[in-house]
Amino acid sequence: MCGIVGAVAKREVSDILVEGLRRLEYRGYDSAGVAVIDGDQVGLCKRLGKVEVLAKALEQSALPGCTGIAHTRWATHGQPSEENAHPHTSHDRLALVHNGIIENHEKLRQQLQGMGYHFSSQTDSETVVHLIDSKMQSGLDLLAAVKSAIKELEGAFGLAVISLAEPEKVVCARSGSPLVIGVGIGENFLASDQLALRQVTDRFVYLEEGDIACVTAEGYLIWDESDQPVIRSTLSISDKVDAADKGEYRHFMLKEIFEQPTVIRNTLAGRIGKDKILEQAFGAEAKLILDKTEHVQIVACGTSYHSGLVARYWLEEIAGIPCSVEVASEFRYRKFVVPKNSLFVTISQSGETADTLAALRLAKTLGYASSLAICNVAQSSLVRESDLALMTEAGTEIGVASTKAFTTQLVALLLVTIALGRRHGLTANAEATMVEALQQLPELIEQTLTLDETIKQSSEHFAEKNHSLFLGRGAQYPVAMEGALKLKEISYIHAEAYPAGELKHGPLALVDADMPIVAVAPNNELLEKLKSNLEEVAARGGELFVFADVDSGLQTGPGIISIQVPSVPAVIEPIIYTIPLQLLSYHVAVLKGTDVDQPRNLAKSVTVE
Ligand code: G6P
Repeated sequence: MCGIVGAVAKREVSDILVEGLRRLEYRGYDSAGVAVIDGDQVGLCKRLGKVEVLAKALEQSALPGCTGIAHTRWATHGQPSEENAHPHTSHDRLALVHNGIIENHEKLRQQLQGMGYHFSSQTDSETVVHLIDSKMQSGLDLLAAVKSAIKELEGAFGLAVISLAEPEKVVCARSGSPLVIGVGIGENFLASDQLALRQVTDRFVYLEEGDIACVTAEGYLIWDESDQPVIRSTLSISDKVDAADKGEYRHFMLKEIFEQPTVIRNTLAGRIGKDKILEQAFGAEAKLILDKTEHVQIVACGTSYHSGLVARYWLEEIAGIPCSVEVASEFRYRKFVVPKNSLFVTISQSGETADTLAALRLAKTLGYASSLAICNVAQSSLVRESDLALMTEAGTEIGVASTKAFTTQLVALLLVTIALGRRHGLTANAEATMVEALQQLPELIEQTLTLDETIKQSSEHFAEKNHSLFLGRGAQYPVAMEGALKLKEISYIHAEAYPAGELKHGPLALVDADMPIVAVAPNNELLEKLKSNLEEVAARGGELFVFADVDSGLQTGPGIISIQVPSVPAVIEPIIYTIPLQLLSYHVAVLKGTDVDQPRNLAKSVTVE
């Protein structure tokens, strides 16, 4: 969680740091701060609120200096406030930014208070800066002090420190929270995500777990967890499009919704042929892993969990393989039986979600046959720690509410389903039909996106409501769950999803004119059953918003608004029906005037448990 940026240059760095924070703001945005070495003092500026508040403060009173660190925060320990914002300082001679959680912070705090250190925040992070300072006071240089201090830390951290005593360097360390060095010419940078540094470099060195680095303007040195000097490879990343730009769109979320045809094309590129999937494109290890798979365990969080729930329907129906799906934070803390030859699949946009990563690490000790990550960030921890990775090609997703990451995950999961299906009786004809559906998918999404204006108008009926129910049946049930999650995340309207058949077992009691019901109604074998469920709602005066197949026979009338979705092949229905639900939540949130891209209390990448 939170975002870190650091820079050492021959020019002033505070603008670079602030621009980096802007690009990282999707990770957390309750407060922000910058510290730079300014002659014989550490210049510090911290503000409650978003990065723009900090940027304005710096316009009024600039912080000169060529070595600096900066942070945008999502509160864990201690409420959002200026005191709790990073950087934290010790005796005005050392400044630190930290991502993650220090679990033994209370013990350390007592120890340091006993040594005379005064704490000015409630954060766990402040203990680390005083701890490093205490090491320096006992005679260690900055690097040695950081190395010694982190041995005493329990928990997860990505951190960066600057010191008046050694003004031309930033020392940083990674353990459980990602850090990347940005390599410049005569200047170097660091950040918790390369996106923060794209305005200054396209060459990156990813730190591995346990690495410590010392970054100066001239270069950088890295030591691994056993304190051995190491060389980590340099990656050149050159996206043509700068993802941190909204372009013509009012919000990143809308831009990302409209990018779906393109990013789905990208995710399919090279992976499907004329009438079959091109399994070789999954990587050299894929065949062995898929050959032995007899069961699939999926683990993920949030939106990614919902894609796993859709995949379960596919895997059991198309591939005939038993599949279990669980949220990572639950999976980690219960006893269960590992089936024979079970493939452990993690799904994650960021590849850094703490619970998902911890679940993978646990799974590796439990006897799963292999692990597969479906992920959007190639350099992420999840990808690096899995036996096999299938990348979604969604590009950087900035909106906190996930959209294009979800639909590209579904595409990747369908490819895996077909690959496994081949080994369990899926015929070449059936595969060809599905591949044809995948080929049509980007265009069908384009058609579905033309519903935007109609959905915008319908959303007006919705914006006044405080509660809502989302209904679906079969694989559309997780689609309804994802629709409800989108709505609550960004419009703050309470939304729950139910399998439509379950309505009469409880939630029907809630239905009245103030409780809109959203339903997804493709023209499949469950349509008639769904229609009966909708009758149950209409009979109780409930207002229905139905996204229905053009041939479903569901028309707009008293008590029902029916938005007609193109007829599409059954296998891709969950992907298609996700699109109007994304648009509905977006337009409702815009009408409500919420912060669409950065909804309150949430963060894009949750790297704490
Ligand atoms: C956060 C985000 C969600 C996301 C979830 C899992 O809660 O706000 O949009 O679905 O994390 O993230 P991941 O990166 O693992 O997919």
